[in-house]
Amino acid sequence: MPDFIPVLKKDDIDKMVAAVARRISSDYQDRELILIGVLKGSFIFLSDLIRKLSIPVKVDFVGVSSYGSGTASSGKIQITKKLEIDIKKKDVLVVEDIVDSGLTLTWLIDYLMSFKPKTIKVCTLLDKIERREKKLILDYVCHVVNEGFLVGYGLDYSEDYRNLPEVYHLKL
Ligand code: IMP
Ligand code: MG
Repeated sequence: MPDFIPVLKKDDIDKMVAAVARRISSDYQDRELILIGVLKGSFIFLSDLIRKLSIPVKVDFVGVSSYGSGTASSGKIQITKKLEIDIKKKDVLVVEDIVDSGLTLTWLIDYLMSFKPKTIKVCTLLDKIERREKKLILDYVCHVVNEGFLVGYGLDYSEDYRNLPEVYHLKL
């Protein structure tokens, strides 16, 4: 049985999501914001985030897979669900669960840029800095971690543990 070391408690998560939602609501006042959740990991974060925004938003999802079943990015990114909303000339905010090497997000931003949005920014629950390979600007970050494999609150290990309400460091 693996060990689960607590990283973010329910209360920490609630406060972080509320704080980032306030910033986003203020920065995007009077604009047409489209949130794009990156499946599958961001689905819980995104659903909490949108309910705390005080501005109108549209929501879409893109599916990307890069991990296979291990704990390090394969670098081979596949689209598993295409964008459905037209983002041309719109303000787009990509919502991620965690940015690790940065390979997925770099690839995804290129993909989204091909639809000619007005702006693209990034909001991530977790910024895991130790293995970053691609320089990236993360506009909204809830929490920075140095290393480790995290699960819960949407994040999985081989599709398990997404339903845990808090974030844990998984020690295999
Ligand atoms: P990257 O391409 O290495 O930045 O990895 C990005 C994706 O891999 C994230 O969107 C997650 O879905 C997944 N990932 C990276 N680190 C972790 C982790 O610690 N736990 C669970 N999933 C992770
Ligand atoms: Mg992800």
